[in-house]
Amino acid sequence: MPGIYLHIPFCKQKCYYCNFYSLASMQYRHVFVPALLREMRWRKDYLQDKHIQTVYFGGGTPSLLQIDEINRIIGEIENLFQLDAEAEITLEANPDDLSYDYLNALKNSTAVNRLSIGVQSFFDDDLNYLHRGHNADSARFAIETAKRVGFSNMTIDLIYGIPTLKEEKWEKNLQIFFDYDIPHLSSYALTVEPKTSLEILIKRQKLKNTDEDQSIRHFEILLEQTQQHGFIQYEISNFARPGFYSKHNSTYWLGGHYLGLGPSAHSFNGRSRQWNVKNMKQYITSETTEHIVLEKEILTEDQRFNEYVLTSLRTSWGCDTEHILNVFGEKHVAHFVQKIRKYIKENKVAQKGNVYILTNTGKLFADGIAAELFI
Ligand SMILES: C[S@@+](CC[C@H](N)C(=O)[O-])C[C@H]1O[C@@H](n2cnc3c(N)ncnc32)[C@H](O)[C@@H]1O
Ligand code: SF4
Repeated sequence: MPGIYLHIPFCKQKCYYCNFYSLASMQYRHVFVPALLREMRWRKDYLQDKHIQTVYFGGGTPSLLQIDEINRIIGEIENLFQLDAEAEITLEANPDDLSYDYLNALKNSTAVNRLSIGVQSFFDDDLNYLHRGHNADSARFAIETAKRVGFSNMTIDLIYGIPTLKEEKWEKNLQIFFDYDIPHLSSYALTVEPKTSLEILIKRQKLKNTDEDQSIRHFEILLEQTQQHGFIQYEISNFARPGFYSKHNSTYWLGGHYLGLGPSAHSFNGRSRQWNVKNMKQYITSETTEHIVLEKEILTEDQRFNEYVLTSLRTSWGCDTEHILNVFGEKHVAHFVQKIRKYIKENKVAQKGNVYILTNTGKLFADGIAAELFI
């Protein structure tokens, strides 16, 4: 299912915890979209299969784009690729951008058909800790208005493990989400990324540090509650009602191909993985594709095996030895089967025929287990 990712690298303000590439200045706002369209034309042949099934506006803050800019970008995709009539087109949005008029135009005057709202918490003290640009009321207004204008394919992001987020508040956040009857949730543990304001403020003891036990307890509550409400945990941080899985993100997890456009975006076409520069000035002044692409890596068979193990183990589809045999051969199957035994004994992995899936206990150690299975 080939897809296109568009990185929109602007934010009104930087959240303390975030190390995604984005500028908290609008200086390059008007030269950015032409540069993005230009990159799209240069790289239209990167995906051998031009039948595009998903488009994802990510960021940064794509809801800072004007409606006509969104239409110009989708229009250029239609010119250069074959955009499936049923394509999933997602836009990530911050609650503070979502007025009635914006949402109404987004729903009724663009092809965007899936909305992802970065709520993070329904409590102001958590939002203040994170240094978000919105408050709890605007998060609720954004969800209610998005539903009112007709968005049904919707998802929100909630962060757990915030030091101000006590257990009852986390349960309440989930309850509010269930009450809104939204079909998809992405939920991540707060991670203290290097060189972020959060890391600095914690070091200076201006903000309380995260606590691993609290995070684990929140994760357990998340699994219990989503299961009780009929959500499928189809990836470790993603929960959906049947029929509402993110097709775009599933492409990443299932080893599919995608073209990433915009500064810092990644691309993968089955043979090579490449990263764009994380530098706006260089991005907009580049004269060829070579100036935009920072690094290109032709993946070895072992690297592709490791990636398959890492991403598949995090999904409900699990890691399949039949797939390993067909794609990588017997040697890789033997390696995998021998290494995974330990985790089956420890009840961290369950085996169902050819398929190996993390148990709820195993999900707490997903990355560590995958690393042990690498070649
Ligand atoms: C990078 S944002 C882009 C979308 C939008 N600007 C927003 O804030 O929702 C995508 C998601 O990643 C989450 N995220 C980024 N850094 C994180 C971190 N260090 N810990 C947990 N979640 C993080 C954000 O909170 C958000 O839900
Ligand atoms: S979390 Fe979203 S809004 Fe906050 S800085 Fe990162 S990209 Fe921007």
